[in-house]
Amino acid sequence: MPLATSKDLFEKALKQGYALGAFNVNNMEIIQGIVDAAAEERAPLFLQFSAGGRKYARPEYLMKLVEAALATADLPVVLHLDHGEDFETCKACVDQGFTSVMVDGSKMPFEENVALTKKVVDYAHERGVVVEAELGRLAGIEDNISVEEKDAIFTVPEQAKEFVERTGCNSLAVAIGTSHGAYKFKGEAMLDFERLNKIEHLLPNYPLVLHGASSVLKEFVDKCNKYGGHLGNSRGVPEEMIARAVKTNVCKVNIDTDIRLAITASIREILVTQPEVFDPRKYLGPAREAIKNMVRHKMRLLGCAGKA
Ligand code: G3H
Ligand code: 13P
Ligand code: ZN
Repeated sequence: MPLATSKDLFEKALKQGYALGAFNVNNMEIIQGIVDAAAEERAPLFLQFSAGGRKYARPEYLMKLVEAALATADLPVVLHLDHGEDFETCKACVDQGFTSVMVDGSKMPFEENVALTKKVVDYAHERGVVVEAELGRLAGIEDNISVEEKDAIFTVPEQAKEFVERTGCNSLAVAIGTSHGAYKFKGEAMLDFERLNKIEHLLPNYPLVLHGASSVLKEFVDKCNKYGGHLGNSRGVPEEMIARAVKTNVCKVNIDTDIRLAITASIREILVTQPEVFDPRKYLGPAREAIKNMVRHKMRLLGCAGKA
């Protein structure tokens, strides 16, 4: 099956009230674990590489890994650049055969973000590639922050509308309280669903993206800590909040941290409980299985299982 673009996949997800998982890939075991899960769940999916992930896997190798995934699983797969911070990185991925790129100008002032995003959109659309952009900051936050503070950090709905209209981006990553990594909230977990609803109201039927959506699953944190890790006050987005978000226009949910934790917990356990092991297949194989099981669970939570 050739690579998919996200347009039809998002349309169906919006209509039926579910989201696709977008999983970060860095190496062969990760891609195999994710694709095995998708094949078992019959789920369409995004395989995404950050600039760092692309450099680590090496561009030529990553295309071959993705080709192998497509040859072995009959599924709609979107190959996506995650957080492209400049035009050159986005262009390189479009030229290389990615079917979707994210241009992340969220750290820039609004007008600069518009200009960069528009430049990437113009280049990508001419070549049949879709573009995700971002507005607002994905910052770790305290609970009980004021409305003014929220407006300074989170996506402002009126600006989101203007941004989409001026840039022509195909989907928008919004900041409503999530952040990257394993330490997302200092107090109670809090997502600004009211803001999300306002964005949806101003941008009806428009695909939104939730970054920083790992739940930092307790099972993996506990296992990491039991076998020598130090993941003190880690905290993710509660699963019930993800389930609520996918019923809105959020139709792409980004997961990286939960993959990292699944791998690390599995490898830590094996190296500590079986100190005689030194064959990498003996710990990378179970790590791949742990990724698969975790991703299957996510796909059911997101509602994309059975939608391929
Ligand atoms: O959003 C960031 C992803 O988790 C990728 O992280 O840049 O360390 O590969 P990375
Ligand atoms: P997590 O760190 O919550 O997995 O978020 C990943 C992400 O947003 C990748 O773009
Ligand atoms: Zn992200």
